[in-house]
Amino acid sequence: MPSQAVFGSKEQAVYTTSTGAPVSQPYAAQRIGKYGPLLLQDFHHIDVLAHFARERIPERVVHAKGAGAHGYIEVTHDITDLTCAALFDAVGNKAPVTVRFSTVIGEAGTSDSARGPRGMGIKIKTEEGNLDWVFNHTPVFFIRDPAKFAPFVHAQKRDPQTHLRDPDMSWDYLSQNPESIHQVVILFSDRGTPAGYHRTHAYSAHAFKFVNSEGKFVYVKIHVINDAGCKTMTAVEATRLAGEDPDFGIKSLFNDIVAGNYPSYTVYIQTMTSEEAENFRYNILDVTKVWPQAKYPLRPVGKIVLNKNPENYFAEVEQAAFAPAHLVPGIEPSADPVLQARLFVYPDAQRYRLGVNYGQLAVNVPVVPVANFQRDGFMAIKNQGFRPSYQSSILPLQYKAKAYEHAEHEVFLGAALADLSEVTELDFEQPRVLWSKVLNDEDRTHLVRNVAGHLGSAKSAEIKARQLSVFAAVDQDLADRIADAIGVPRVQPQKVKPAEEALRFRAPS
Ligand code: HEM
Repeated sequence: MPSQAVFGSKEQAVYTTSTGAPVSQPYAAQRIGKYGPLLLQDFHHIDVLAHFARERIPERVVHAKGAGAHGYIEVTHDITDLTCAALFDAVGNKAPVTVRFSTVIGEAGTSDSARGPRGMGIKIKTEEGNLDWVFNHTPVFFIRDPAKFAPFVHAQKRDPQTHLRDPDMSWDYLSQNPESIHQVVILFSDRGTPAGYHRTHAYSAHAFKFVNSEGKFVYVKIHVINDAGCKTMTAVEATRLAGEDPDFGIKSLFNDIVAGNYPSYTVYIQTMTSEEAENFRYNILDVTKVWPQAKYPLRPVGKIVLNKNPENYFAEVEQAAFAPAHLVPGIEPSADPVLQARLFVYPDAQRYRLGVNYGQLAVNVPVVPVANFQRDGFMAIKNQGFRPSYQSSILPLQYKAKAYEHAEHEVFLGAALADLSEVTELDFEQPRVLWSKVLNDEDRTHLVRNVAGHLGSAKSAEIKARQLSVFAAVDQDLADRIADAIGVPRVQPQKVKPAEEALRFRAPS
């Protein structure tokens, strides 16, 4: 009999049905005589056909194309003053990680070189359960009003009638929602085309809260900085790869790990106390903005190394379920509305995409036992055995709380209101600094060319002029250079409210 070890190994295995019965001719189908119809009794053949027809699960509605790897995180610096999370309770702590990199808008078969954010989902299996960091390679996002997410994504995906990606639709949305401009300027520079999934940085973008054992919290943004630096490509190179080697990102990650060139990252945090947050000149929970590093410097925390390829892509990468809501005691969400929406939507997407027991799939199972009262449902792989499914007096579950449970927290009070942010001059400040101070002459030339290549293919003069007025509000020279490149009249900056009218952060009273 084949041993258990045969499964998943390179040893020779006996071909069987899905129920383990040996089959002498896998490619044969039972039929009546040499030329007659097939037989229903041929379980093997029918099972093969039926299973094949069910091989596909829904791809992720965004971030469908990706690549993954395993590795570890190691804590290199003491941050016990900031968080009581067990992962960070001693320098030298290590935990296994699974990472999935992704593009965002294209379907599962599209090119790794597409312009757009790169996702980096990091599942950290700590002794207090899974901690997921679901980050992008840009430190800001397109929206700050979560209800805009689906319409925004729809405008970047395919047109309902033509089933084509449509520059008019894309810029129509962006030009009407100018808070997107910071992300647009980043992504239309060459940073929007990283030279490989694992060759870029990743950012929480949102603020989280780190809570220490006394119950004191600070707001924290997390930066995962590639030790080899961030490598980008020109639009010309990205277009070439889209045709010649669209999976180059998956391939280079896999090959680098095979060759022992393990991708590695240094994890840093930026912190802000609630007092600093209140005195800051804009809302620190606005995910379209960064916190200045000169004032809130990066503090090193740990290292992530990816040193193992998946043995099975579907099982270990496609079925991985990353969610910003998968947190551990000592790390909490802030009230950033986009983050709050994400707390709900990822587990919801995974219940749909993978099933209600997605947490029981091997790649998602924590390294600590799960003990609760959830039971049954489709594909209950481990169903907690004989343990009662309520709090029984015979076999009670213990409750363990961290010391800070009753200590300082935010307190919220207020009426329900339909909140929608407003655009002010403040929204153009950071992209202006990016354009005028951070980018060099070559970067600026590429940015203009990259925008022109896309905006120039929109048909509507009105949409082009409106988006140019958004660029002009960033910098007149930027807008004029784009206008000249696409051969349309130059435009004046969009009129917006003064920066002083922007929402500032007010801790709830
Ligand atoms: C309201 C805003 C957002 C919504 C509604 C949203 C929604 C989603 C959904 C539904 C998925 C697919 C999840 C799955 O099927 O497993 C996804 C994937 C992802 N999102 Fe978001 N997202 C939002 C904003 C963001 C932001 C701000 C970031 C990064 C800072 C981000 C990073 C990612 C990443 C990295 C993935 C892929 C995870 C993986 O590899 O499985 N998203 N998002």
